[in-house]
Amino acid sequence: MSAKKYLLSTFSVILFAILAACSAPEEAANEMDEFTFANYDAIVVRHVDLDLDVDFDNKILTGSAELSLEILKPDTNTLILDTRDLAIKAVFTEASGGWQETGFVLEDGGNLMGQSLTIDLPEGAAKVRIEYQTSPGASGLQWLTPEQTAGKEYPFMFSQSQAIHARSWVPIQDTPAVRFTYSATIRTPEALLALMSADQDPYTPRDGEYSFEMPQAIPAYLMAIAVGDLEFQAISDTVGVYAEEYILAAAAEEFSETPMMMEATADLYGPYRWGRYDLLILPPSFPFGGMENPRLTFLTPTVIAGDKSLTSIIAHELAHSWSGNLVTNATWRHAWLNEGFTSYVENRVMEEVYGKDRAVMEQVLGKADLLETIAGFEDPAMSALVMPYGLNDPFEGFTDVPYQKGDLFLRYLEQKFGREKFDTFLRAYFEEFAFGSILSEDFYSYLDENLMSPNPGVVEPEVIRAWIYDPGLLDVAPEPTSDAFTLVSETRAAFLAGEISATELGSEAWITHQWLYFINALPDDMAMELFIDLDTTFDLSVTANAEIAFAWYMKSLQAGYLTVVNPVEEYLIRIGRGKLIYPLYQRLVDISQRDWALKVYQKARPGYHPIAQARIDAILEL
Ligand code: BES
Ligand code: ZN
Repeated sequence: MSAKKYLLSTFSVILFAILAACSAPEEAANEMDEFTFANYDAIVVRHVDLDLDVDFDNKILTGSAELSLEILKPDTNTLILDTRDLAIKAVFTEASGGWQETGFVLEDGGNLMGQSLTIDLPEGAAKVRIEYQTSPGASGLQWLTPEQTAGKEYPFMFSQSQAIHARSWVPIQDTPAVRFTYSATIRTPEALLALMSADQDPYTPRDGEYSFEMPQAIPAYLMAIAVGDLEFQAISDTVGVYAEEYILAAAAEEFSETPMMMEATADLYGPYRWGRYDLLILPPSFPFGGMENPRLTFLTPTVIAGDKSLTSIIAHELAHSWSGNLVTNATWRHAWLNEGFTSYVENRVMEEVYGKDRAVMEQVLGKADLLETIAGFEDPAMSALVMPYGLNDPFEGFTDVPYQKGDLFLRYLEQKFGREKFDTFLRAYFEEFAFGSILSEDFYSYLDENLMSPNPGVVEPEVIRAWIYDPGLLDVAPEPTSDAFTLVSETRAAFLAGEISATELGSEAWITHQWLYFINALPDDMAMELFIDLDTTFDLSVTANAEIAFAWYMKSLQAGYLTVVNPVEEYLIRIGRGKLIYPLYQRLVDISQRDWALKVYQKARPGYHPIAQARIDAILEL
């Protein structure tokens, strides 16, 4: 361990000890975000105005950010911002006498957090303007060469700010506890279109200069930008898709039910408050399935399966327009307030739009993932909804726990209080905390006041607190069962017993979920003839469905079915979505194929996002 890292971790151990000694962990009402340098208890950013040139030749953004400030503590004479690998050229402040240059210090805070930017604020200063440029290795941006796009003609650039990467392209208070509005002017090569998580006219002329307004206050992790050779296709008056031309029509078709989902979510939880809702299909190197950037969800193309079987991701990112974007976790330890609520809302919307059977299948798959994840933890604290202090990166906390355990907790409450009361409660919760950033304890108090106290005896407060703060999964957790899956289990058993062959599975009408359920529970020591039978019958090794391919590759590698080797290589080079590739690299290490994994990675790495590169470097111990 480096000296710096050692100091940091010693510091967090001490910090943790102090916190643990002073208060029960759940009682920190004014808990500060440990992943920001910002002095946001003294001064907050209320508006950001960006003026940036997108320089593809140098892979940098260059320009300025003007920040409007609200001083909370009168004597504040410094503004501390988060940055990471930004070159700061000059800083100006605006006070009564106009703009003037001011002093600043950039200080390295280690790998994890980046550099703090401390700016001198003269008395009465209400604005600062920072002239800066990003670095080509900015952790929150990916720059693709024309060859790395489908069209091969133009370069592409996109951001991924969550959790703490906004600071690598904007000097900002990079904490979900602070919200601001923003405006931007972005200059690009003339043929390209710039998009942001903001108000935009889909039919704006492509002329290389684009203006944006984001009138609703959002936290920094929801700032987003993308620039490329993008086309637009409307799905309805207020919903549409942006994509490279090759996939535009397919995307619009795949996601044609988005307006229905919006209606269903708004019927349940109150009006959609963000104006338009558009989808942006990114190149396959996008490291996530989806990202809920307000007004403009970012999506991996790997969910375009051709049969609408992976559209729950739209329900998910759309649901964030209520849970997460409207009511936000104030610090990343409480990410379940974003992701657990969103997983719950997602599933309710899937039920509304596609019916109970599909919704329940998704619940069963989710709970199975959760149990496997919890079983794999060395540190039990990782299985509590509220994450421990001192993680190396907030992203480490985004496991199945905040998503699936959070979902189970809310479903438990729904079952206990009844759907009608719980729906009314959740709707009121979104209204009460709209455009606010909250902690788990705020949720608990609101739940206590509005559901537990008016309905005494329905749940025990200790059980509710255990759901939120204790490790593991309570016995009272809901236990979804799916008839469709029961049939798949029976079919699988008959296949494994040699009673039926692959052609006799009766799988013609299976949807992706059933295939995943079928494949995931095949035994690791299944006979090679059976692998071959399945593969020759269904072409699983070369399926275009990225989720089914993933499940099949994981199983085949474990079992030593080597026909998948070439397809896996091709897959790892083509796709950069973390959920689909990190486990494959890990599996290759686990089955003593690290050398082969390294060879593939050498070819694939240049195409991966910086976030994915860092993660796989760690898996392969580079
Ligand atoms: N907000 C997350 C993505 C995220 C989380 C990015 C943490 C960076 C840090 C997004 O809403 C999400 O959960 N995406 C999932 C898909 C979803 C259907 C579970 C993903 O990308 O796999
Ligand atoms: Zn999410």
